[in-house]
Order: sequence, then C-alpha cells, then structure tokens
Amino acid sequence: MIKTILASVTWRDAAVFGAMAMAIAAFAAQNARAASPQDMLKKFQAEAQKAGDFPAGGFSAKRGKAFFLARHAGGKPATPSCTTCHTDSPLKAGKTRTGKVIQPMAISRTPDRYSDPEKVAKWFRRNCKSVLGRECTPREKGDFLAYMLSQ
Ligand code: HEC
Repeated sequence: MIKTILASVTWRDAAVFGAMAMAIAAFAAQNARAASPQDMLKKFQAEAQKAGDFPAGGFSAKRGKAFFLARHAGGKPATPSCTTCHTDSPLKAGKTRTGKVIQPMAISRTPDRYSDPEKVAKWFRRNCKSVLGRECTPREKGDFLAYMLSQ
C-alpha cells in the first residue's frame, strides 16, 4: 500500500517536473526569437550610449551605407569589404567564399533578418573580424542596421 502511494507520488512529481521543464524550455526558445530589428537597434543604442559613442543625430543609414561599401584595412586580404560576400547592393543576393547563396541583406527583400539576437551577434562578430580584423562597434552596427532597414 505505502509502496504504491510512494510510486504514484514519484511518478506524479516526475510528470510535473517534466511539464515544468518543457514549459521553461518552450518559453526560453520563444524568447530567443522574440526580437525585432527595432529591438536590435535599441540594444545597439544602449551599448553605444554606454560607450559614450552614440551620435547626436542617432544612427545613420547614410553612414551605414558608406561603411558597407568601404574597403577596410586590418582584416583578411580576401575579404576587404562587406560587399565581398553581400555584393554592393543590399537588394541583391550574395555569395559566400565557397559559392553558397546569401539572401539579400535588405529587410524589404529578406523580412526575417535581424530578429534573432544570437544570429545577429554571431555574424557581426565573425564578419567584422574577417573584414576589419576586429569587432564592429555598437555605433557601426547601428548605422549598418539603419541602412539595411532603409532598403
Ligand atoms: C566572407 C563572406 C562575408 C563577408 C565578407 C561579410 N558577410 Fe555578413 N554574412 C555572411 C554569411 C554567410 C551570413 C549568414 C547567412 C545569412 O544570414 O544569410 C552573413 C550574415 C550577416 C548578418 C546577419 C543578418 C541576419 O539575418 O541577422 C549580418 C548582420 C552581417 N552578415 C553583417 C556583415 C557586415 C557588417 C559585413 C562587413 C563588415 C559582412 N557581413 C561581411 C557572409 C559574409
């Protein structure tokens, strides 16, 4: 009798914990995706302000365009510019060094861009290191994003 009760309590607890763990995992997964490009802009703004590098007029699509098109020094010789892979137009599909297609960077062409904070962070880190030999500053990221959202 006691054994039966114990067994059922244990089973019930396990089920409850299992359900809780699943709910938490689902919530976490949803939260990771629950960002918009505007949330990204706000994040870069907060980081730029913290670094004392937020421009008085706000982020600028014009500066972002110049940054996107520029040939930078300090990175890998094979990738001097964002345009090496993304082409000189955010409206066009690009190509990786190995020839894989990269969907256009403009939000108007690829609407699900800039809404996954981890993806955004990962590719800024990786691409800025390749092109500039360092991470992009929050201000550079904000300007770049402003440009892509204007396209
Ligand atoms: C060596 C090729 C290459 C270069 C050079 C490159 N990128 Fe990319 N970029 C990629 C690839 C590949 C992806 C991931 C595939 C995708 O998002 O379609 C990507 C994705 C991104 C993303 C993520 C977009 C999203 O959907 O969230 C950002 C931001 C980005 N790149 C910024 C830059 C910036 C800024 C530069 C220049 C400093 C740059 N890239 C240069 C290849 C490159």
